[in-house]
Amino acid sequence: EQPPVLTIDGPGGAGKGTISRLIAERLGWHLLDSGALYRLTALAAGKHEVSLDDEAGLARIAEGLDVVFLAEEGEARILLEGADATQAIRTEQVGDAASRVAALPAVREALLKRQRDFRKSPGLVADGRDMGTVVFPEAPLKIFLTASAEERARRRHLQLREAGVDASLSSLLKEIQARDARDMQRSVAPLVPADDAVELDTTSLTIPEVVDRLTELLARRG
Ligand code: C5P
Repeated sequence: EQPPVLTIDGPGGAGKGTISRLIAERLGWHLLDSGALYRLTALAAGKHEVSLDDEAGLARIAEGLDVVFLAEEGEARILLEGADATQAIRTEQVGDAASRVAALPAVREALLKRQRDFRKSPGLVADGRDMGTVVFPEAPLKIFLTASAEERARRRHLQLREAGVDASLSSLLKEIQARDARDMQRSVAPLVPADDAVELDTTSLTIPEVVDRLTELLARRG
């Protein structure tokens, strides 16, 4: 019997990262931030001067990714080749490169086993785009979190402002729409809800409201 998995998929900025972390904490389960693996692949490719067009080279980078996920007193840190990459993978530039790298089948294949290895007792919350469709198709509970592109741009804008970064709302909206299009239209593992996913639109919900709804759903399926 494999440990249970809760998959949380959806477009960027729908709140998956925060929600997944809070649910994992509440359940005492492990957490997989699969987007971080694509971001780390993009960052490592830059470091090693592998071009974003070089699919085989990028797959080798993904395969050999030297990454450590640390959780110290609630503070998650990510080490790439021994160096702290926690902040560096969060830039728009790395996010954009990640979504290009993520469109390549050989890269996705190279990261598959690494993602499945996160499934450990007592359970896993898996955050991404294809957790319920490709990586953990047999997961007993699948969530698809959405929010309007405008709302996601607004949230991102707030988040950046809090981090002291000044970005225009309209350019953030454009980037979000471009990233959505790329994630939904790619031929491998496109962003779509699994047939058996529960869809939750978070546009007008607060974070605690979303966490409560999901906890309820879990208890009901439990
Ligand atoms: O979620 P996050 O913004 O960190 O993901 C960065 C990029 O990685 C996404 O735009 C998407 O293209 C890609 N990704 C993916 N499959 C996943 C997680 C992320 O293709 N499971």
